[in-house]
Amino acid sequence: MYINSDTVIDGRSHSEDTQSNELPALKNILVTGGAGFIGGWFLRHMLQTYGDRYVVVCFDNLDYCASTNNFKTVSHFTNFHFVKGDVCAPKDVEGVFRDYHIDVIVHFAARSHVDNSLYDPLSFTQTNVIGTQVLLETARKLGSIKRFIHVSTDEVYGENDAQSPIAFTEEQSLHPTNPYSASKAATEMIIQAYRKSFRMPLIIVRCNNVFGPHQYPEKSDLELIPKFITLLKQGRKMPIHGDGRTCRAFLWAGDAAEALDVIFHQGSDGETYNISSNNHLQVREVAEKIFRCFHVNGTDGLDRWVELVADRPFNDSMYWTDDSKLRALGWKQRTDFDKALQTTVDWYCRDAEGFWPNLSGVGDNRIAVDGDPIAEGYCN
Ligand SMILES: NC(=O)c1ccc[n+]([C@@H]2O[C@H](COP(=O)([O-])OP(=O)(O)OC[C@H]3O[C@@H](n4cnc5c(N)ncnc54)[C@H](O)[C@@H]3O)[C@@H](O)[C@H]2O)c1
Repeated sequence: MYINSDTVIDGRSHSEDTQSNELPALKNILVTGGAGFIGGWFLRHMLQTYGDRYVVVCFDNLDYCASTNNFKTVSHFTNFHFVKGDVCAPKDVEGVFRDYHIDVIVHFAARSHVDNSLYDPLSFTQTNVIGTQVLLETARKLGSIKRFIHVSTDEVYGENDAQSPIAFTEEQSLHPTNPYSASKAATEMIIQAYRKSFRMPLIIVRCNNVFGPHQYPEKSDLELIPKFITLLKQGRKMPIHGDGRTCRAFLWAGDAAEALDVIFHQGSDGETYNISSNNHLQVREVAEKIFRCFHVNGTDGLDRWVELVADRPFNDSMYWTDDSKLRALGWKQRTDFDKALQTTVDWYCRDAEGFWPNLSGVGDNRIAVDGDPIAEGYCN
């Protein structure tokens, strides 16, 4: 059992909450949302990098964007397990904690599609806020968790001023502007409270947009890249919100997995870390680059493949975060955006069909994984 709120002497500043970064002996990792995009990259990375050093338990309710193909290449590891369960269900969560003697959590499970959050905000609060608090409460009651990494987003900051942008550090106050980012910010407030009141070993990670193979395509904004690729592949136009000048920072999923590995091993409890990308691109620039992957001979005809659609009621103009704290731990972004984009396009053209059970167009179900050779050439 963690220290009770009654016995905690409070009133310290955020940085004073930071505890020693000496890594406790960790063994049994619960990866919530591991059948999703980033969680899948992280659990494959951990198993492929560290072999049998950790027991990795993927806990996921297999929502529409999930696929068991995300862990197909590591399912032969005897130290890998999959448990179907809901983070909002205390019984499911307590069951997996007890059955696998969980001592560390990396929490990805969430609803993350901004546009859906505008239509059904309550379900985002339910999964993202309540689901996280169920994990925290179970961890608090059982008292066995030595590290809990919560995966949050740059969107909690709200937008940077596009006219004179300053990169947000982790100390920046939070100003979310849509129900998705608000639910992630609300979750962070609960985590701050559990850090203070119960002195739980909690780390928050705020990540820029991640892209790469295995990201569910029929979404937008965060999932802009797979969506545009899939539409072009189908001979359909890429819909761009407003004038397409909205800017996002894009990070290759392999770089994100390495950043999470560094935080897992070297991060300090009580800290918050930005994971940032140097690749700041406007949505229309991304559309042009994707178009070029299909039509190598320049941008002639791009206009025919772009459709400007009504913008959201409010659309953050840009997110720019400062990741000095993470870089001081030794992480750096390694992957060139254009090469990573080409790899991503190739994967969607070659291997995406049939990857997700509920996505139309079931194909031959070939699975590309980290390290697989990527076919040369283009879709057309
Ligand atoms: N994709 C990005 O660019 C990005 C950027 C910053 C932060 N994030 C955060 O990273 C995390 C993972 O994002 P992603 O893009 O991999 O999302 P994703 O939608 O691909 O994966 C989410 C996973 O969570 C699972 N899940 C959803 N509700 C659940 C529940 N109630 N119980 C158990 N499992 C549940 C889903 O089945 C899915 O496998 C999210 O917390 C998101 O907010 C994502």
